[in-house]
Amino acid sequence: MTTLDAALSGQFAIGGDLTVNRLGFGAMRITGKGIWGPPEDLEGAKAVLRRLPELNVDFIDTAESYGPYISEELIGEVLAPYGKGTIVATKSGLTRTGPDEWHQVGRPEFLRQGVMTSLRRLKLDVLDLWQLHRIDGQTDRTAQFEAIAQFKADGLIRHAGLSQVSVADIKEAQKYFPVTTVQNLYNFANRQSEDVLDYCEANGIGFIPWFPLAGGELVSGHADARAIAEKHNASPSQIALAWLLKRSPVMLPIPGTGKVKHLEDNVAAAAITLSDADFATLDRIGRR
Ligand SMILES: NC(=O)c1ccc[n+]([C@@H]2O[C@H](COP(=O)([O-])OP(=O)(O)OC[C@H]3O[C@@H](n4cnc5c(N)ncnc54)[C@H](OP(=O)(O)O)[C@@H]3O)[C@@H](O)[C@H]2O)c1
Repeated sequence: MTTLDAALSGQFAIGGDLTVNRLGFGAMRITGKGIWGPPEDLEGAKAVLRRLPELNVDFIDTAESYGPYISEELIGEVLAPYGKGTIVATKSGLTRTGPDEWHQVGRPEFLRQGVMTSLRRLKLDVLDLWQLHRIDGQTDRTAQFEAIAQFKADGLIRHAGLSQVSVADIKEAQKYFPVTTVQNLYNFANRQSEDVLDYCEANGIGFIPWFPLAGGELVSGHADARAIAEKHNASPSQIALAWLLKRSPVMLPIPGTGKVKHLEDNVAAAAITLSDADFATLDRIGRR
């Protein structure tokens, strides 16, 4: 029988003091089509959330813009008060005008509204990890970074992170507040943020790869990679997740789903340990 325990993925201490199991959950997919409105299968989405603590998934990623608000509201409704050690990380900095429509807004008052209303929706007194969803190119970046430093000073957030940034962005932000996590597009087949990941690893910053399951097709389409999956009796996307977990000790994958079966498939990847040789083979295939 497959072991379903996110703790098998190893642990990482966000900001040095919030220890989570590295394989987490992305809560963007518990919303409607186009990440807009309620999910088609509301009871299924709630069942996914209820299953998380049973599988030792204690790191949940969400954002006020998912739904918008729906993802945070469901998490608050189903999981609050949270079990000891559960970290709900959220984000602000994007506003929504319809399905699949996202716009950057980094004005300090908008970011503060995000923090204050996330606290309410998630039923928390402090946000353990709050991330700037995007650095808004139309707003003074210093104002955005100063606002984040102020949220910390006001005790509204414990730790802060960034999303979709370069190494230079991280270094600049670090002049204002400690950057504890970075959330960039990264997976087995998309390695554009390799330099950012290396910087995060060297500086003890948690790296949260979004769209982590992509790359499964590359695994199934390559004979050597397929052989590795077959050896582990694993699906291509489980191998893509296992590869991520081995890639770096600061890697915190957050696969997202609205289905319990898929959640369980993803957590099962925590039990897969790739050999160094298999990792290297997969790495070569993924880099192509
Ligand atoms: N910072 C950012 O800008 C940003 C951007 C995008 C996402 N994120 C975060 O990253 C998380 C993950 O990203 P993502 O949701 O785009 O990508 P993902 O986790 O790589 O893939 C999710 C997709 O794969 C499907 N899926 C999940 N598990 C599966 C399984 N075991 N078998 C078959 N299909 C499966 C899901 O559909 P089903 O629901 O049908 O399972 C969904 O369509 C999000 O939930 C969100 O928290 C952040």
